[in-house]
Amino acid sequence: MVRPASDGRRHRRFRRDSKSIASVIAVELCAVAVMFASAVESVQSFRPHIVVILADDMGWNDVGWHGSDQIPTPNLDALAYNGVILNHHYVQPVCTPSRAALMTGRYPIHTGLQGSPITPAEPAGLPYQFKIMPEYLRDLGYRTHIVGKWHLGYYRRPYLPLNRGFESFLGVHNGYCGYYDYMTQWEVDGNLISGFDLYKNETPAWEHVGRYATELYSSEAVRLIKDHDATEPMFLYMAHTAVHAGHRGRFLEAPQGRTNSLKYILEPNRRTYAAMVTKLDDSVGELVDALRERDMLSNTIILFMSDNGAPANIDALYPNWGSNFPLRGVKGTLWEGGVRSPTFVWSAQLQNNPRVSDQFIHISDWLPTLYTAAGGDSTNLPADLDGVDQWNSILWNLPSRRFQALLNIDERERSAGIITKFDTVDPTRRTWKLVVGSFGRGNVNGYYNSGKSPLNPAYDYNKVINCKAYRALTTLFEPTTKEYKMADLRRQATITCSSQSPLGSNYEPKCDETPCLFNLETDPCEKFDLSPNNTAIVQRLYNTLKLFRRSLVPQIHQPLDLPAADPARFNNTWSTWAF
Ligand SMILES: *[C@@H]1O[C@H](CO)[C@@H](O)[C@H](O)[C@H]1NC(C)=O
Ligand SMILES: *[C@@H]1O[C@H](CO)[C@@H](O)[C@H](O)[C@H]1NC(C)=O
Repeated sequence: MVRPASDGRRHRRFRRDSKSIASVIAVELCAVAVMFASAVESVQSFRPHIVVILADDMGWNDVGWHGSDQIPTPNLDALAYNGVILNHHYVQPVCTPSRAALMTGRYPIHTGLQGSPITPAEPAGLPYQFKIMPEYLRDLGYRTHIVGKWHLGYYRRPYLPLNRGFESFLGVHNGYCGYYDYMTQWEVDGNLISGFDLYKNETPAWEHVGRYATELYSSEAVRLIKDHDATEPMFLYMAHTAVHAGHRGRFLEAPQGRTNSLKYILEPNRRTYAAMVTKLDDSVGELVDALRERDMLSNTIILFMSDNGAPANIDALYPNWGSNFPLRGVKGTLWEGGVRSPTFVWSAQLQNNPRVSDQFIHISDWLPTLYTAAGGDSTNLPADLDGVDQWNSILWNLPSRRFQALLNIDERERSAGIITKFDTVDPTRRTWKLVVGSFGRGNVNGYYNSGKSPLNPAYDYNKVINCKAYRALTTLFEPTTKEYKMADLRRQATITCSSQSPLGSNYEPKCDETPCLFNLETDPCEKFDLSPNNTAIVQRLYNTLKLFRRSLVPQIHQPLDLPAADPARFNNTWSTWAF
């Protein structure tokens, strides 16, 4: 198997190509490294609690810190303004691949999960020869819990979360379900197969029917924190099912009172979606407050991201009316709207350095990054990981250690994409992105749901200062109270694009046959295909894709195993069915 050089090695080779700048950077890196060496040691001698909050299908523009006035997310914003807003953080275009990359530290093409998500009744799962995040953290003494969505396979017992390093689980095995009834439906040959999908560890949890999912997961997380022996480090993987669509025909569900409080949003689906987002935001506030109450907050790392962009209102199967604006495209595409995720990391260790970061980070980086943050030595991790250890880059605001990211290669859909931060002519400016293939589900290449409306209330900094998360932070240090400081971070984190492509408003890049090239630095909204004028760069990136293609593991997808997996055989639950 031929594999492209890892990004670290590539980095070194490229540095030789651009000598003068490289040597300046190298000298600076050395100085910084010496300066911080002792500090790094002391930081790494204790093991922080790690909370990873993964939103599902949430769009770039559905959070306050990216400049939207539409949906109030004060708790998320409070953490973002006091942590590091990772504005160049990339994920996979759909659920299962993102989760696989997060858990394994590998590009999905190297685990066979690069295709569409695992569906109900599909006998497939993340191959268990890959050791995953909770197992690594357990080796370091962590207590490990998953709350919410698993979506990495359950057809046989070895694939279940409890057999993959988690000691407790409350959540669902499939990719989505109803927010009150926890039923997951799947259409097969025109018939809707339906089954219950909420489990406590390995037992169906009927007792929670009727409880709103985001509240249920939140209270479970709070309970885990309350019951946790704080002398041991905790890893909590909080994988919300929010804000994914739930049921066919009744996609979105939120408590009615909350939806009614957002009447200024006229489109009823968008209004319900917004209510779901605010419930998720409440949950983050409660979680942070529980950490404060247990005196754990000062020693906790909180990572927030979405698994992929929003499907917006155009996905025929599971639309959610989220907004990736002003980014192009939706979930399932390699456009920025599909793969550039709203992300921040907060930790008291970062408290004096709130910032909007343009450090280039891929979701596969979190395995080695959090392993290092947890006091592990990332050189003990497998040498063939695709993830890059970014902990010291984030902690000390050093350059990202990643110079390129494979966005994906889907050999069935025949699409691929790659971003490189490197350019010999102008290494500080150019971020090239190459996309090839089509994302075959109709019109998915435009810009949807701007979230802009004259009725939107003005962004309210007082809401941020008065929310639970912010008040919890004040017990540790003096968080940014100055409106102008928060406003400045918010402005930096907001992407604006020239309104029109020079080729007209109906212009759609045609990247099916020949690759399209974008300069993300000057054109984050992917309006100008620069491939005709940059054939050498196109060729170089295309060659890199071809090299990656050689190490691709074919997709693990299997035909549905029916009737064996039919919930009717298991008291109407989606259950482990093969042995
Ligand atoms: C780009 O290339 C086209 C021909 O492919 C040419 O007409 C155009 O002038 C070039 N633009 C620039 C900015 O070089
Ligand atoms: C079967 O499902 C019902 C709910 O539909 C539940 O109340 C009951 O406890 C389940 N029976 C078993 C044996 O799990």
